[in-house]
Amino acid sequence: EGQESIPEPPKWPVLGHALLMDRENPSNTLLQLHHQYGDVYRLQFPGINMVIINSNEFAREVYDEQRFHKAVAGPLEELRGFVKDALFTAYHGERNWAIAHRILMPAFGPSVIKSMWSDMFDICSQMCLKWERFGADVPINPNENFTQLAFDTVALCTMGYRNNSFYQENTGSFISAMQTFMGYVEERTQLPKVVRLLKGHTDAKYQKCQDDMNVLIDKVIATRRKNRGVRRDLLELMLYGRDPKTNEGLTDENIRAQLITFLVAGHETTSGLLSFVMYYLLKHPDAYRKLQEEVDSVLGRDPIMPEHLSKLPYVTAVLRESLRLSPTVPLNLVQAFEDTFLARRYFVPKGQICVIQFSRLHRDPKVWGDDAEEFKPERMMDGKFEALPPKAWMPFGNGSRACIGRALAWQEAIIAVATMFQRFDFRLNDPDYSLVINQNLSLKPVNFFFHAIPRSGIP
Ligand code: HEM
Repeated sequence: EGQESIPEPPKWPVLGHALLMDRENPSNTLLQLHHQYGDVYRLQFPGINMVIINSNEFAREVYDEQRFHKAVAGPLEELRGFVKDALFTAYHGERNWAIAHRILMPAFGPSVIKSMWSDMFDICSQMCLKWERFGADVPINPNENFTQLAFDTVALCTMGYRNNSFYQENTGSFISAMQTFMGYVEERTQLPKVVRLLKGHTDAKYQKCQDDMNVLIDKVIATRRKNRGVRRDLLELMLYGRDPKTNEGLTDENIRAQLITFLVAGHETTSGLLSFVMYYLLKHPDAYRKLQEEVDSVLGRDPIMPEHLSKLPYVTAVLRESLRLSPTVPLNLVQAFEDTFLARRYFVPKGQICVIQFSRLHRDPKVWGDDAEEFKPERMMDGKFEALPPKAWMPFGNGSRACIGRALAWQEAIIAVATMFQRFDFRLNDPDYSLVINQNLSLKPVNFFFHAIPRSGIP
């Protein structure tokens, strides 16, 4: 095996490549570096050294679970300070991950997800009712509305908790505590590791956010302990489920961390997906028309039901294509088990962190062709999605550490998109709006507003 060093831009002492990055929009820099240095290159920041992966060829290697495993670093490490070894932030091989994974996998399985249908539809109807009452003149901020939708859906479906976001003046205290806390996670992630360690987790304001969230979830857990069996949901399965392998259950503290994790992992991600779907449809009138025609011909005036799912291939394709171009979780971190080589020539030492850039992977011209930059839902249907090469479309992550909430998010998104287009016509607030993306922990469009015009004759 020939040894070559991984391409790397010139760097500063100590700061490494930190000054290269466009702080407002790091993906601009990453795009430029991809063009300059190719499908794999190295970046170094104080305290962290990363190999950036930009193509399907290299993604296939680092997604080989025999050679690489999930890395908990950066924002995940910060979040871990709060939710410890819950599913999302558990280290590779951690005992509680395996136990919770075995208990929870069936709890996120198809029949449980289907049983969430009416709760999902309930929350979606609240949003639509609000839009109908507001009328066509009021500009709608999708980030806000879809965050409320996604948060309320996860809270209701996983633990029977009604946050009632659509009946509140602002988002409600739990969401704002969570958003303040996530802002803190983001802020700390920007700091060099030494500074973070020195500062510790002492900031009183952020401690209060965590306390507030814990208190609320503890109450939900305590109430359910007294009312066993009122709902057969994820909380119930966590409270009374046993690991088939060790026969152990989850502690209340671990259950609390899992529930908070679902809320954190499940609200901005799904919300961002819906915002991008609206953006792409409003910018592509052909796709908009096709989608609405499909919805009208399948649903007519009836509320969407589980049996409609397989009859909405265009809606499905639009969701897939939106996540391809705007993957709301923008990257994935993995780490090498042992010294290894990429493409049999680039040496990667044991423990090396590799970052898969979804926005580049999802535009690899070898997979997607010369029109990779364009929004074309047609490439995601009629068997073409199933025929994609392995590791080509990865917005939900990889293998054993892939998203456990994928089916939940998917069902929620289809119910929302179909119901919105059944009940409303949409137009952009600013017809000339062009996409500005905010990339923090998740991607979302900025300054994007639309109007929802109730369609006549639809109840
Ligand atoms: C993991 C994306 C919705 C819960 C992940 C990962 C990705 C992802 C990329 C892997 C992270 C990594 O490898 O470090 C998304 C997207 C969503 C979505 C794009 C919506 C469109 C949800 C929802 C829930 C959820 C609704 C919960 C109800 C989780 C959990 C994990 C995870 C618990 C960790 C799984 C494990 O490591 O065992 N998600 N997610 N996600 N997601 Fe999601």
